[in-house]
Amino acid sequence: MSDTGETPVVTAQMAEGGASGPALVRPDEDCAFVIFGASGDLTGRKLIPALYNLFCQGLLPPGFAVVGYAVTPMTDAEFRGAMREHVKASSEVLAFRPRLWDQFVPCLHYVTAGFDAPEGYRELGRRLAAVDAAHGTGGNRLFYMATAPRFFGPIVERLQEHGLAEGGHGGASWTRLVVEKPFGTDLASARALNESLHRVFAEDQIYRIDHYLGKETVQNLLAFRFANTIMEPIWNCHYVDHVQITAAETLGVEHRGGYYDQAGVLRDMFQNHLFQLLALVAMEPPVRYEGQIVRDRKADVLRAVVPLDPRNLAEQAVRGQYGPGHGMPGYRQEPDVAPDSHTETFAALKLMVDNWRWADTPFYLRSGKRMPKKQTLIAIQFKRVPHLFFDTTADDQIEPNVLAIRIQPDEGISLTLGAKSPGPEMHVRQMQMNFSYSAAFGEFPATAYETLLLDVMQGDLTLFNRSDTVDLSWELLAPVLDAWQSAPSADPFPNYPAGTWGPPAADALLARDGRAWKTDSTLPGHQE
Ligand code: BG6
Repeated sequence: MSDTGETPVVTAQMAEGGASGPALVRPDEDCAFVIFGASGDLTGRKLIPALYNLFCQGLLPPGFAVVGYAVTPMTDAEFRGAMREHVKASSEVLAFRPRLWDQFVPCLHYVTAGFDAPEGYRELGRRLAAVDAAHGTGGNRLFYMATAPRFFGPIVERLQEHGLAEGGHGGASWTRLVVEKPFGTDLASARALNESLHRVFAEDQIYRIDHYLGKETVQNLLAFRFANTIMEPIWNCHYVDHVQITAAETLGVEHRGGYYDQAGVLRDMFQNHLFQLLALVAMEPPVRYEGQIVRDRKADVLRAVVPLDPRNLAEQAVRGQYGPGHGMPGYRQEPDVAPDSHTETFAALKLMVDNWRWADTPFYLRSGKRMPKKQTLIAIQFKRVPHLFFDTTADDQIEPNVLAIRIQPDEGISLTLGAKSPGPEMHVRQMQMNFSYSAAFGEFPATAYETLLLDVMQGDLTLFNRSDTVDLSWELLAPVLDAWQSAPSADPFPNYPAGTWGPPAADALLARDGRAWKTDSTLPGHQE
């Protein structure tokens, strides 16, 4: 709590903010929130709107301040003005209330300096001391790396040199580091980055953020699996035929061509978001909901994934790049993308999880840009019934059950079931049992960033990636990244038109196994 005796600027606004969201808990320790890269996109689009939302819900600690740090010259007043515009424009802000903004804004500060400039860190030190006195932030510091990854290592070194990385460990105050993705670009660079962070910060001070883990529906995977007795007995290779994880986006690369053309979909979506979903679907029950324990169980899954065989890659991995289609430009025509780029904007992988629970049960993962609809869907297809005793005719629809977990949008879960269709005769039709998040709980106001920022302030590491999981993810991708980098696609790029579900080879990947990709609208019993 604030121990300075100063009146904290940030105070609870629950009544006026009016949000009646999920049971988020206000951190009980004050802190200064330092953002490196404060003039960038992430700060304006995600971080400040999330902090403002938390403020409106009375969820910031009483002693709280933001110190932005970036090379773009700005005064405090200019930074505040720019952030006001971002918050007003943000679709993630519940409602922009000028009076609440006026109460929030005095906690925003800004330091203009390069990430390598000693004078910048001296100034940061002075500002933090001033902020501790003015806002009662209690000496606790949260350093948020919202910069290009090449600055992560140097910033951390400078923090140490200037005595700003101290705190935490047994001290009266703590220091935490939040690192945005991408965490490295391959195994070697991720290890090198981990080493440079570990020279200054202990693993339990490092919060590697993956915004998927902050999504309500992703967190619900654990609740759904482990708070319901009926799931566990069937959640294994005896009942599950296969699992599909789709993260489809309608967007192209927008203004991020420069970054994306170096990254591609495997680095951008698989190494983090898709592998995390895989781990949550496949993991064993943890003994407690606690950072190390949950993360141990997730790491076990990644350890059990059979490495892809470079000699047999075509059978297990498909890549694609969108060309022009449905009135949209092709990837190679996007700004900052090389006109002959071989970067993949779509990938599909078939993975086997070699353990007792999942023996011989494929996990198919796919993700792509410029798909026909935005949809993140986990589809668990169960096995066919062992024996059918009905006199079935061509009219009957006897399909295996599919449990479809809609991560976004239209968040919810549906189960397809065979049911007797009304009438004198015994015919079976497919129907769906549906659970909709918004129908059950109303709108949920917490965005992923709000949840995750609160967790950092509370010191809860459960929803953040640990260094071993990061390494394991890169190890799994290494054979595909290497093979794809060393030879262009046999199926020449571009190989799918914008606005379609990826290259035909992605369908063939499942068709070879007698299966087909699912979207929520292709599930049996789907009704518009
Ligand atoms: C980001 C990727 O991590 O996730 C983006 O860098 C992608 O390319 C985004 O668009 C998708 O997130 P969401 O929450 O919209 O599914």
